[in-house]
Amino acid sequence: MAFRKLLGSAVALTFISAGLGADLDGSRYLWYDTPASQFNASLPVGNGRLGGTLYCLPTEIVTWNEDSVWGSTFQDRVNPKSLKSFPVIRDLLVGGNVSAAGNLALTDMTGISIDPSAYQVLSNLYIDLGQRDEAKNLLRYLDTLEGYTACEYDYDGVGYKRELIASSPSGVLGLRINATTPGTINLSAHLQRSKYVEANYATVANGVNSIVLKATTGEDNYNTFTAEVRIVADKGNVTTSEGKLFVSGATTVDFFFDAESSYRYTSASDQEAELKRKLNAATDLGYDALKEEAVKDHKSLAERVRLDLGASAGDAASLPTNERQINYRSSPDNDVEFATLLFNYGRHLLIASSRSIGDLALPPGLQGIWNQDYSPSWGGKYTVNINLQMNYWPAETTNLNELTSPLWRLLTLVQQRGEDVAEKMYGCPGFVLHHNTDLWGDAVPVDNGTSYSIWPMGGAWLSLHMMDHYRFTGDRTFLAEKAYPIFKSAFDFFDCYLFDLDDYLTTGPSCSPELAYKIPSGMATEGQEEGLTFSPTLDNSILFELFTALNETHSILGINDSFASKVKKQLGKLRPPQIGSKGQILEWIEEFTSTDEGHRHFSPLFGLFPGTQLTPLASPELASAAGVLFDDRMDNGGGSTGWSRAWSIALNARLYKGASAWENVKAWLQTFLLTNLWNSDHGGSTVFQIDGNLGYTAAISEMLLQSHLGVVHLLPALPSSIPAGSVTGLVGRGGFEVGVSWKDGSLTKATVKSLLGNELTLLVNGGNSFRVDGTEYQGPITTKKGETYTITIQ
Ligand SMILES: *[C@@H]1O[C@H](CO)[C@@H](O)[C@H](O)[C@H]1NC(C)=O
Ligand SMILES: *[C@@H]1O[C@H](CO)[C@@H](O)[C@H](O)[C@H]1NC(C)=O
Ligand SMILES: *[C@@H]1O[C@H](CO)[C@@H](O)[C@H](O)[C@H]1NC(C)=O
Ligand SMILES: *[C@@H]1O[C@H](CO)[C@@H](O)[C@H](O)[C@H]1NC(C)=O
Ligand SMILES: *[C@@H]1O[C@H](CO)[C@@H](O)[C@H](O)[C@H]1NC(C)=O
Ligand SMILES: *[C@@H]1O[C@H](CO)[C@@H](O)[C@H](O)[C@H]1NC(C)=O
Ligand SMILES: *[C@@H]1O[C@H](CO)[C@@H](O)[C@H](O)[C@H]1NC(C)=O
Ligand SMILES: *[C@@H]1O[C@H](CO)[C@@H](O)[C@H](O)[C@H]1NC(C)=O
Repeated sequence: MAFRKLLGSAVALTFISAGLGADLDGSRYLWYDTPASQFNASLPVGNGRLGGTLYCLPTEIVTWNEDSVWGSTFQDRVNPKSLKSFPVIRDLLVGGNVSAAGNLALTDMTGISIDPSAYQVLSNLYIDLGQRDEAKNLLRYLDTLEGYTACEYDYDGVGYKRELIASSPSGVLGLRINATTPGTINLSAHLQRSKYVEANYATVANGVNSIVLKATTGEDNYNTFTAEVRIVADKGNVTTSEGKLFVSGATTVDFFFDAESSYRYTSASDQEAELKRKLNAATDLGYDALKEEAVKDHKSLAERVRLDLGASAGDAASLPTNERQINYRSSPDNDVEFATLLFNYGRHLLIASSRSIGDLALPPGLQGIWNQDYSPSWGGKYTVNINLQMNYWPAETTNLNELTSPLWRLLTLVQQRGEDVAEKMYGCPGFVLHHNTDLWGDAVPVDNGTSYSIWPMGGAWLSLHMMDHYRFTGDRTFLAEKAYPIFKSAFDFFDCYLFDLDDYLTTGPSCSPELAYKIPSGMATEGQEEGLTFSPTLDNSILFELFTALNETHSILGINDSFASKVKKQLGKLRPPQIGSKGQILEWIEEFTSTDEGHRHFSPLFGLFPGTQLTPLASPELASAAGVLFDDRMDNGGGSTGWSRAWSIALNARLYKGASAWENVKAWLQTFLLTNLWNSDHGGSTVFQIDGNLGYTAAISEMLLQSHLGVVHLLPALPSSIPAGSVTGLVGRGGFEVGVSWKDGSLTKATVKSLLGNELTLLVNGGNSFRVDGTEYQGPITTKKGETYTITIQ
């Protein structure tokens, strides 16, 4: 469905005719006929560094963020007692005195202050248009393809439009407010921030109209930042009073936003100069050109993938998004385009929150870059026992691989901090990261609990994303220069830290993230609930993938030295996944009783997704044991957070269970979305976490294309409830861009473009026979870079 002409004919008195957003493509647009009354209904745009949301209330609010505005400078939180107590704790654990080990870990290993830095709101821009009554014919929408949000409405016989854009090339946000009747816009605008403000003023001088806010992020003069909004009115008068800027008699008013914090500058003058440079350039460019640039840039990324899961029944997809959301809860089968919309929204959110901005980019945290609080839930941090990783799950597979660069930059920071922490806490070389980090790369344990704080695997898990980046892009320079030093540093840590137990390399003290178990009989403090343990399955699985990645890297780079031999040897000494009494993959080193059988973390299933060790391609037996554990988790209330539910879709996809995957798709869409379709942490909770949105997008992709372990698998987990559809632009490891269409549940045609000229091993729908360019497929084919291969069944 095409986007209708928003403005209709030039002579129309109002912008909107009857039907409001009904003509908007329901797979592409979020839209509403009411303003956003809360942050979680406002619509988000971003340029990777700056984020903003628009509400369309009578008094407009733009809640905006800058990604380096966090509440403190770097803090060295290392517990000096750790080095001495770490071996004591390990011995207590191995000796079965788990509670004593746990107590000592809490006093002697966790950080001397328990939290690193927390993310903060930047400011709200308020724009009072003097419109006290309700607007008429209001339409508010977000275009996931072009990456901007707007609203249109009538007020007092005049049509108004407000539009918020984010330009990554220019590094600014832009807002336009315009009216159909010349000279009717009167407004006052001001920046508001309730904490640590040092200056807040408006100026009109030499034709430049600005509102400026200078603040710090804490009492101790932490990060400082300057936020500035430039205002350009096409006509009328601009004046200031008491920190506010007033415009009267204008037809169009444009706003250009930038904020720069001390995080990225060595001097205040450099920081101010860059702020001025960006704003001068953006105002010189002008709003129209800025929008054209912003849209072109966003669209060039967003349009790489097109997903069609079929059409919704009747007008189900033509209703306002909030009504669709309600209808979807009772009649999910009527509105399959709602699932497609969320796939597209996930890609929009990643494009808007993760862009390369030179060497100092930051990745999206728990709330991406959109946050209205000074003390957001969990500090809005980078939680790395699943969440930050999940944010990047869709990056490679949905053709957005250049959006990963902020993650590499954070990982490089973490490596530097983590080498210090490895030495001070464990007496080991290499780097370690526990379960959270912040913009400074803080690597010390966070919080103070035995089932989450002491877990030395965060850095190893993040490193695996670098291996995947190579597998998708074939970028040897990246592998050799960026990834390999980090892999080596991660390995060096484990080579020192791991200990031998029953001839296996063993981690500990560690935990299976956020889950406790009951101490079995025969051990000290029998029956007590504890989290601390050694060699939980997750740790072994991450080590398996890390050592495998290193071995693969050595082979790619032609390295055959003593280090390479050591990696191979150690790979053979890792504890393999174990199967328990119910036929399930074990979570811990023994079959302990879990304190929560339906736990949200699927840590022991890491080897199924995102790992490979438990996949059917690697081992049908282990895959089936993974399925047993998965079912058991779900029977006991698993998938209880939005991100957990998104993970459950991907796990089912890896088990080739399309029907179950789709059940979880529906459950996620029914249970976890806020009004603006942000993912929430718990069903019914109001806490926004972006991981679920991004994990969902990745999981949908995983149902249609898989490419781990050297096999490009088309339609591995197609649900029968999506009988016909197509997708183009997904990417598989080895550098294969895939388009595939299906009908009546089976492939009709696929194209595979070889981006790198690698050998191509194919699988269709779990093993159907097929043809490549008309010839029956017999086995791996040699491809030519740039060539496209056509796959058909007949
Ligand atoms: C962590 O918990 C332990 C045990 O409750 C306590 O002794 C210690 O002071 C806590 N650490 C911090 C930094 O609060
Ligand atoms: C308002 O601005 C938009 C661009 O943001 C433009 O498409 C539209 O034509 C403008 N409307 C009027 C009445 O100037
Ligand atoms: C805008 O303000 C001017 C005075 O500055 C006033 O004459 C005019 O009526 C106002 N317009 C509206 C639409 O409120
Ligand atoms: C702008 O200011 C001038 C001079 O003060 C005044 O004459 C004029 O009426 C004002 N125009 C509007 C639209 O407020
Ligand atoms: C467990 O360790 C604590 C602290 O070292 C010690 O006091 C206690 O006796 C130990 N318990 C057992 C059963 O060994
Ligand atoms: C290590 O890499 C080599 C070369 O690619 C491969 O033949 C071997 O199977 C790998 N070893 C393991 C244990 O994966
Ligand atoms: C690596 O070196 C060892 C001994 O130096 C040799 O036995 C082995 O064949 C070499 N492997 C490769 C892949 O070159
Ligand atoms: C949105 O946030 C508000 C305020 O925090 C809360 O009351 C409301 O329940 C939330 N809405 C949804 C759909 O969660």
